[in-house]
Parts: sequence; structure tokens; C-alpha cells
Amino acid sequence: MEQELVNLRTKAGQQLATVEDISQLEDFRIQFLGRKGQCSTIMKSLGKVPIEDKPRLGQMANSVKKEIESLYDEKRQLLLSNTASSSSQNDSIDLTLPGRKPETGKLHPVTQIMNEVCAIFESLGFSVAEGPDVEHDHYNFEALNIPAHHPARDMHDTFYVSDSILLRTHTSPMQARIMETRQPPLRVIAPGKVYRCDSDITHNPMFHQVEGFLVDRDVSFADLKGVLTVFTQKMFDKELELRFRPSFFPFTEPSAEVDIACVICEGKGCRVCKHTGWLEILGSGMIDPEVFKMVGYDPEVYSGFAFGLGIERIAMLKYGIDDIRLYYENDLRFLSQF
Ligand code: PHE
Repeated sequence: MEQELVNLRTKAGQQLATVEDISQLEDFRIQFLGRKGQCSTIMKSLGKVPIEDKPRLGQMANSVKKEIESLYDEKRQLLLSNTASSSSQNDSIDLTLPGRKPETGKLHPVTQIMNEVCAIFESLGFSVAEGPDVEHDHYNFEALNIPAHHPARDMHDTFYVSDSILLRTHTSPMQARIMETRQPPLRVIAPGKVYRCDSDITHNPMFHQVEGFLVDRDVSFADLKGVLTVFTQKMFDKELELRFRPSFFPFTEPSAEVDIACVICEGKGCRVCKHTGWLEILGSGMIDPEVFKMVGYDPEVYSGFAFGLGIERIAMLKYGIDDIRLYYENDLRFLSQF
């Protein structure tokens, strides 16, 4: 019996040294300290020892059991503190987690179309000029043959900053600004933002135009048609029907509005083309002699054409979008598709 107790103590010590985690420790507990474990078995067999040996062996058995219990407790503390510290390490950096991709920004669809339009005209020899959004009444109206009480001013619902300062209602002021400072021959495009107090599914109070003009000797309406036809072919990668509708602008004579076959409904009529089958994409014409006179060009020597095209219209056609307001709601689910 004595020897058995010594052996049990040694065995428990050896076994405990091989325990590496909580579940192995639990096996150990069941094997040595459980109800049917080796300590209980020995305790029970105490009943069979001679009565005079009982106190001594009983005491010894108790102290062996207590020793095993305290070894068990020690080991348990050790294992628990190890797992706690290793799991807190895992919480801070989990090297197995896949990385998070940083979001990459991209150009707004309107900017993309704007760049594309500019690139096409640049390939045709036009140079790019930019001017101010906040403009003088003089350049926006006066220099374009739209005097103070001219009925054409009604065409523009203008945002005024003061009596003589406004948000430009079109990019045409760039015609006057450039012609004032340069001599023909000129081939210029002027992209930028314009503002009109107007809002529905095809109008936004701020939108984008690209102004284009060409001034030289012997420029004719045929040149205008040629340039615009090449432009639409390049822009839409196909031969699209164009319609030149007689129109009026105080700074061009003759004037035409140019429509493009509605690519959303293919001419059948839809909400976007207001059931006409056509979408207006630009205003154009031969530059009015009055405009030339105001910038000091001789209208007997020079002629030229000008056009102003709406970028959002083109973007809507190109992408099949039927509501202009989508471009300005800043919804990434929409914007990231382009
Ligand atoms: N500026 C005119 C508009 O905003 C368009 C246009 C430009 C017309 C150049 C003729 C010539 O509607």
C-alpha cells in the first residue's frame, strides 16, 4: 500500500508534465482525481488494511491526494494564463485574415466624357482654353450681341451675383474672351461648367458644355457640318443620324440646333427624347458679323462657325441613362459603374 501511494504520486507527476492543454488536463483530472479515478480507488482500498496501519496510511493517502490536487491546480493556472495571453495576441493581429483592398477613386462619368470630347476635337486640331464660371454680364451677353433689353436674355434663366456679375449661362463668353486676345486663324474648344435656373429629368442647374469655334478665311456652314459629323461618329463609334434644325442665337447667323437620333429608344420615342425620337445635343451656327465687329475682326475678311454642346446629354446617350440627376446624387453604386 505504501509503495502504491509512492508510485501513484510519481506517476501523477510524470503524467502532468506531458499535459499541454486544458483538454488533456481534464483527462488527467478524471484519471487521477475523478470519482472513479486512481486516488478514489486507493482511498477505497484503505478499508481493507489492518486496523493498526489505518491512521498512518490514511494520512499518507490524504497527503498524496492533496499534493496531486495542488499540482493539478498549478498546471491549470499556467495553462489558463497561457491561452489568455495568446488569444489576446490573436485579437490584435490575425495574420490569416485576407487584406482589405483600399478603394480606388475614379473620374466622374461626366469628367470622363468631357475628356473624351476634348480629345476628339484636339485630334482635329482644336486647342483647349478655360475661362471663369463667374462671369461679367459683358462677356456672357453684351459681347455676344445680346444687349441689356434683348429678348434673347429671356432664353437664359440666369443666376446673378450682382447687377453685372453672374454665373455664366453658357460657354460662349469664351468666344469673345479668346477672339479679343488672339488673331485668326483660330480653332479653339472651351470646356466648363455652366449654370441655369432649371431642373427636371434632363436639366440640372449646373451642367457642362464644350464650346467650339473656328475662325479663318472662307469658313462655311459645310465645315461646321463636317466637323460635327466627324465628332459624333468618333464619339458614338457609329454613323448616327444628325438633324440640323434652323434656330436662332443672337451671336450666330444662320443658326442651327443639332439633334442626334435618340439611342435610348432608337428613334421610337421615350421619356428622355420627349417622344420625338431626337435629342438635342448642341446649338451652333456661323459666327455673327456683329460679334466679329465687337472683337475687332473684319467680317468681310473672316468667317467662322461656333457650337456649344451639352456634355451631360452626350453622357446620357452614351451610357443609356434616362435621368440627368443621377449624375449629381453622389451615389457610389451609380458612379462606380463607369
Ligand atoms: N451658347 C448656346 C447655348 O448655350 C449654344 C451655342 C454655342 C449656339 C455656339 C451657337 C453657337 O445654348
